[in-house]
Amino acid sequence: MFNGRVLIITGAGVSAESGIPTFRGKDGYWRNLDPTKLATPKAFARDPNLVWDWYCERRQRIRKAQPNPAHRAIANLGLQADEFLLVTQNVDDLHLRAGLPAEKIVQIHGDIFMTRCSRCEFRRYEHEQEHDDGSLPKCQECGEYMRPGVVWFGEQLDAAKIEIVENFMRGGDCDLVIVAGTSALFGYVIDWALRARGQAGQLIEVNPEETSLSQFATKSFLEPAGIALPRLVNGLLSNVSP
Ligand code: APR
Repeated sequence: MFNGRVLIITGAGVSAESGIPTFRGKDGYWRNLDPTKLATPKAFARDPNLVWDWYCERRQRIRKAQPNPAHRAIANLGLQADEFLLVTQNVDDLHLRAGLPAEKIVQIHGDIFMTRCSRCEFRRYEHEQEHDDGSLPKCQECGEYMRPGVVWFGEQLDAAKIEIVENFMRGGDCDLVIVAGTSALFGYVIDWALRARGQAGQLIEVNPEETSLSQFATKSFLEPAGIALPRLVNGLLSNVSP
């Protein structure tokens, strides 16, 4: 058991060792296109087929991928900590498939397997099958194009998901905050990490590279998540200080 309150924030780096490219790494480019320019409302408006092709390929890759030791370590800590929340920027389902219960996960940038209408509230899950007849999916309720259920650049986060995070924050300061595999470019990531640790909690960063969060970390492991997280969690669960 881990007697304490834990917040973990993850990003694409945690799934990198499962073979899913990060956004800003070299491998992130697809057909020579920059993902940060594909994951936008503008790109979808200009060329929805291209954007869907990219998401369909990513879905296939994620379906074939397996959780790695970092996902499993996080799930293990999540099951053993008194109070726990994972906020992930990842739209894949690898944290869930590693065994972390859905109610302990907030996918703040959405879920790649959700397809939702770009106009109305209609949505459906596509864990298994894909629309693969080459045509763009259209909403069965209103006829508008369907789009991936993820948060694109320039879009607002889902207020209900923010509320889950804020509600966890209101429950008290965390003894431990771990931020792993994210370039921490978004202000809310840094804000949540710093607020959650309060005055006395530990803030541990796991990332082979330094980020803008590194200066605030009480400890940094400049290593791949699949190496550092299992060691860190095993230590915590056997009461060895990190
Ligand atoms: N272990 C840990 N960290 C790693 C690993 C690894 N094996 N490999 C790479 N990293 C780190 C990189 O050093 C980088 O800091 O993971 C980070 C990945 O950064 P990004 O590609 O920017 O991904 P992320 O921080 O999740 O991006 C945030 O931006 O593109 C949008 O919505 C998208 O959710 C995404 C968000």
